[in-house]
Amino acid sequence: MCGIVGYMGGQDAYPILVRGLHRLEYRGYDSAGVSLINQAGNLNVYKATGKVDALEEKCREADTTGTIGIAHTRWATHGEPNTVNAHPHLSQSGNLSLVHNGIIENYKTLRAMLEGKGYSFCSDTDTEVLVQLIDYTQATSRCDLFTAVQRALKSVVGAYAIALLERSHPDRLVCARKGSPLVIGVGTDARGNKEFFLGSDATPIVEYTNQVVYLKDEEIACMDRSGQLDIVNMDDVHQTPEMITLQMSLDELEKGGYPHFMLKEIWEQPAALRTCIKGRLHPASKDVVLSGIIDHKDKFVKARRIIICACGTSWHSALIGKYFIEEAAQVPVEVEYASEFRYRNPVIYPDDVVVAVSQSGETADTLAAIQLAERKGAFLYGICNVIGSSIARATHSGTYLHVGPEIGVASTKAFTGQVITLCLLGLAIAKEKHTLSDEMFHMLVDELYQIPDKMQWTLENNKDIDKFAQMFTYCRNFIFLGRGYNYPVALEGALKLKEISYIHAEGYPAAEMKHGPIALVDEEMPVVFIAPRRGMYDKVVSNIQEIKSRKGKIISVVTEGDTTVAGMSDHTFVIPDTRDCFVPLLAAIPLQLLAYYVATAKGRNVDQPRNLAKSVTVE
Ligand code: AGP
Ligand code: GLU
Repeated sequence: MCGIVGYMGGQDAYPILVRGLHRLEYRGYDSAGVSLINQAGNLNVYKATGKVDALEEKCREADTTGTIGIAHTRWATHGEPNTVNAHPHLSQSGNLSLVHNGIIENYKTLRAMLEGKGYSFCSDTDTEVLVQLIDYTQATSRCDLFTAVQRALKSVVGAYAIALLERSHPDRLVCARKGSPLVIGVGTDARGNKEFFLGSDATPIVEYTNQVVYLKDEEIACMDRSGQLDIVNMDDVHQTPEMITLQMSLDELEKGGYPHFMLKEIWEQPAALRTCIKGRLHPASKDVVLSGIIDHKDKFVKARRIIICACGTSWHSALIGKYFIEEAAQVPVEVEYASEFRYRNPVIYPDDVVVAVSQSGETADTLAAIQLAERKGAFLYGICNVIGSSIARATHSGTYLHVGPEIGVASTKAFTGQVITLCLLGLAIAKEKHTLSDEMFHMLVDELYQIPDKMQWTLENNKDIDKFAQMFTYCRNFIFLGRGYNYPVALEGALKLKEISYIHAEGYPAAEMKHGPIALVDEEMPVVFIAPRRGMYDKVVSNIQEIKSRKGKIISVVTEGDTTVAGMSDHTFVIPDTRDCFVPLLAAIPLQLLAYYVATAKGRNVDQPRNLAKSVTVE
């Protein structure tokens, strides 16, 4: 997610910064910017929307001299991806320039306080609050930048990695982190003097030095030209920098040490979902707050119907959302393939709410579906991951997933992010409509909050899938079965496998088998059952029996401690116990891992499977 690069030393900073931004491109972003202090002491800032190339184009004629600078690729969370909102942001005095990765949760309160002190703001970002706050702290406490950053950050709630330049002190670079990563590289320039590099990860640094310090949470660092590196924590206690010698290759670094983005994204799910529910799900007050529906409560409360339009994996998460929203909020939900909906002249009432679910926010069919719904007067709600994407802009309101950029073409963390977001939406509507008892509502809030931890457990306890998956490389077909909430999980398990391994796979509601597909089953057919203890357990046990009598190979996803289904299966994957409605969030994980390991055993390009694109902008 987004990137920071910094440099101070004897070399020209600009080429190092821009090269560093290119190195971080794999993380995904929507705009970029750079700031440098030149020989004359001017602080220059350049920003552009889109790719780093656009920034370079903008800088072609500009003064990009200077041996100290910071740069940023932004993945917008607050405010559209435009030039004004792009980083670096300048303080009102023009003395400070700051780049930031992360989210400042109390930015509204801080902004109001600073406005009261005479500060004005140019952007819609949470970030600009930081630079003004540090400027204000420095001015009122008459302290140096290092101390001002320490003091200012005490009143900041949220996640950040920041780096700052100070026009009046072109001999030092200050940075800090909490929640978002930051790495300091320490090298030696051509004259034998120390030089410092900064990066959101080590990829922009590794070609210059392998000596790095990973800044720890709540640490603030100050580098100066004499080669001094000072680190303090929030309580102003000095910390000894822990220098590490990097041994990873550039390619390994970009993928965080994982061989593929897809595997990285699978393992990122607990953290990604924690970010997604942060500030939205409140276990202490047993509350759900979705800012996207606050101003539009009436639309949801009075909705005759909710229609969800989506494609592919997003359509699967929408189906899970349907089951949950209908159960929790007692409103009919229809799930439509956007590509069918848009050409069908569907019946849409003005009191319908039409929800678009799309990771990329650019899927042409989904976009066209909501444009059609808008023409018919419906209220449009978007659930997207990419900030400022076309669908996010075309909807009246919505909720971002905040799971970070998804690079692997096969969707994993965006899928679970969509499912949990739809659960939040269901709970938020249920709260307004009072369709759940307090007791049930509180229980669901508590249980949903546990899900990221349970996902972590699932990942840790299914590590043997890689060895087991080897057996299936020669299979030509797979069947995935589930009932209720797990029927869409079966569809998603099958889609994942076919997308990246190119093995033919089908998902069905388990009870549908006997109406036809069971004819396919023989001793060569692996059949994956999602069979948690809750839900229609006994019915699924009977369905397994039907397959077993036809000699199909049974692979099952079962609840920890289960012996009945496990006893009937050739192989089982375990997940922790949870409410029936939240099982998909856990059951999806072993199926993602199964697809991944079967595909890698077959030597497939899992991050960029043949014929597929990450965002499908053609109909
Ligand atoms: C997911 O693994 C697929 N690559 C694909 O089905 C995808 O979900 C679909 O194209 C929809 O994309 P969207 O979520 O960006 O709209
Ligand atoms: N929250 C900040 C913004 O929207 C930073 C986003 C990022 O991490 O790039 O500008």
